[in-house]
Amino acid sequence: MPVNGDMSLDIQIVQKHLAYQSVARDIHVYGAVASTNAVLRTLAANGASDGTVVIADEQTEGRGRHGKQWFSPPAVNLYLSALFRPNITPRSAGGFSFVGSLALCDAIRGEGLEATIKWPNDVLVEGKKVAGVLAECATVETRVDYVMLGFGVNLNVTHKTLMTAMGQSGHFAGSLADLAGREINRNAFAAALLNHLFRWVATYRTDGPTPVLAAWRDRDILTGRRVEVRGEGPSYEGRVLGVDTQGCLLVRDSPGEVHRVLAGEIRLSD
Ligand code: BTN
Repeated sequence: MPVNGDMSLDIQIVQKHLAYQSVARDIHVYGAVASTNAVLRTLAANGASDGTVVIADEQTEGRGRHGKQWFSPPAVNLYLSALFRPNITPRSAGGFSFVGSLALCDAIRGEGLEATIKWPNDVLVEGKKVAGVLAECATVETRVDYVMLGFGVNLNVTHKTLMTAMGQSGHFAGSLADLAGREINRNAFAAALLNHLFRWVATYRTDGPTPVLAAWRDRDILTGRRVEVRGEGPSYEGRVLGVDTQGCLLVRDSPGEVHRVLAGEIRLSD
């Protein structure tokens, strides 16, 4: 049963729910696109300004981290990319991207669900991954040109559809509607996500990474856990010590060496 009688994406409804005028002044809403990150990358190359947002109803080539497919069926979920031009060094981009998972947790809490974060930006409810962020950073010489954050959120897709599309990995995925026991309004959720996102970006800009990292650490589920790290040379096991100020995961392996994980894939092993 559609919420408010209409579940289609509507830019005017999204804008009506935005908290203040400076949130996402330039929003582009599409039907089907290959990937909202790809659309926004083209806009960025043509000079799109800080805060530009692309939302699509469906993605035909949605991508997650490590080049994996991001299942993006029409009419049910949220696929949203936002462009920022922060005055940071490329080394700080990983920590900056934490604003993404923080905003997701806040928007999900607004739906009455508690969310946690699995490094770097996976968002889980009751142990199921419901959302993820694909962060892309473009540099010019030694400075950041832009950071793009691409959000995929399973809002109303059913567990059965996830299982059919994702096979066994569907067991680890969930949707907010299944977890909340009711349909989620896509327009209201998109606006809530943007409100929280722009607030966290403003916090980063005025106060630097410290408050963002502190809030991120409060929601982090990996610190203290044993994990397997894959995708950065030979895989290894170790215990997570936390994250550093640049957003790298710190993992101590059995011989005692501490690794800074920049982009690896993490599996819980305890
Ligand atoms: C992950 O957890 O692996 C990140 C998933 C990010 C998916 C989103 S959907 C909107 C944007 N466009 C893409 O192609 N990917 C991101």
